[in-house]
Amino acid sequence: AVRDTAGEEGCSVYLVGGFVRDLLLSVPTQDLDFVVEGSGGQFAQALMRRMPDGKLTQHFKFGTAQISFPDGSHLDIASTRWEHYSFPGALPQVEESCLRDDLFRRDFTINSMAICLNTERYGELVDYYGGKQDLQQRKIRFLHNLSFIDDPTRMLRAIRFKERYQFDFAKETLDALHTAIETGVLSKLSVERFTEEILLIFKEANYLAMGQILVKSGLFKAWFGEELAWNFDLDNAEESLDWSLNMRWLISVSQMESAGIEQLLERVSLNKSLRDDTIAYLNLRESLMKPLTLGEMDRLLNKSPKEVVMALARDERFKKQITGCLEAAQRINMSLDGKALIEMGVKQGPEIGEILDWVRTAWLEGKISSSEEEQGIARQ
Ligand code: CTP
Repeated sequence: AVRDTAGEEGCSVYLVGGFVRDLLLSVPTQDLDFVVEGSGGQFAQALMRRMPDGKLTQHFKFGTAQISFPDGSHLDIASTRWEHYSFPGALPQVEESCLRDDLFRRDFTINSMAICLNTERYGELVDYYGGKQDLQQRKIRFLHNLSFIDDPTRMLRAIRFKERYQFDFAKETLDALHTAIETGVLSKLSVERFTEEILLIFKEANYLAMGQILVKSGLFKAWFGEELAWNFDLDNAEESLDWSLNMRWLISVSQMESAGIEQLLERVSLNKSLRDDTIAYLNLRESLMKPLTLGEMDRLLNKSPKEVVMALARDERFKKQITGCLEAAQRINMSLDGKALIEMGVKQGPEIGEILDWVRTAWLEGKISSSEEEQGIARQ
């Protein structure tokens, strides 16, 4: 459909960026990014006529369009453009330009290749900046030395791609990364964009190695203002593949003092679920520092999110307590409930909750091990 539409519209259309990179690396990829030499918007409208179940969204200011499909997939279509950044970290201003310039404004050589989709040049690789060679030599290399100043999120992207593909940094790119960190380029970045990039890192299979570079390079210190005790222990690499984003995040902050975590929260803009879990983690950790009865502990664990409990159960200080309590809770086989107590003549009110708590604690402490004993103890 893209090829036919390009023919009809008389414009050149290319697949670009991450899709081309991953195709040459033979790794699976989901996003399809097209650029059109000419009007991306007009091309997108023409393409829509061949894709009846697509939904078109156009961003006129940026000259981009997106077609999304009921299965959740989407195509991004842009006009070739040259971006000007009025100040570092700002959103780009867009002007039409040719493909060569469009590719030059991108972050790394490996992301600057295009594949032509027009019939007469179908499948032709356009590689002005040595992207294919850098892929073969496994190098992350910026396209120009203002790349990190134009867009400081690229510092985080560089680390993400390096570890995702197990590449090296080209020397001048590594030097530029260090210079950018030292000269405070990150301060031009908003908390929202920084957080977005960090969470992309936490979603990567290899996020622990990426985290280590974020710490060792001084990038995290530059952003958070001080050295925080991050935990990116590579010994967790295998298990961490099954951890959810929230679990990964909680483990990574697990060696920080409460004050450190609170300070960290000021410099990131987390979604509600991550923020709530981090606060629940802090609260539960504080509570576990104090002496607790089995019953108190059970109530605390029950009202905390599962991932918070799982993350704290990995902390040597609380491991025994938590696993002991969870094991005890597994032995509970309580048949008594509020309704049964009312039938037994207990008046409706706070007393019911108290009795149920008391019976549950008796189960936890091994004072009850059958429903007969339970009935007996409840009658007392
Ligand atoms: N790009 C860039 N600078 C950025 C973000 C993106 O130059 N800060 C360019 C790159 O050419 C990139 C393309 O836009 O390949 C698409 O960006 P995005 O979808 O964010 O990244 P992908 O390269 O597709 O990476 P991923 O596999 O992580 O989606």
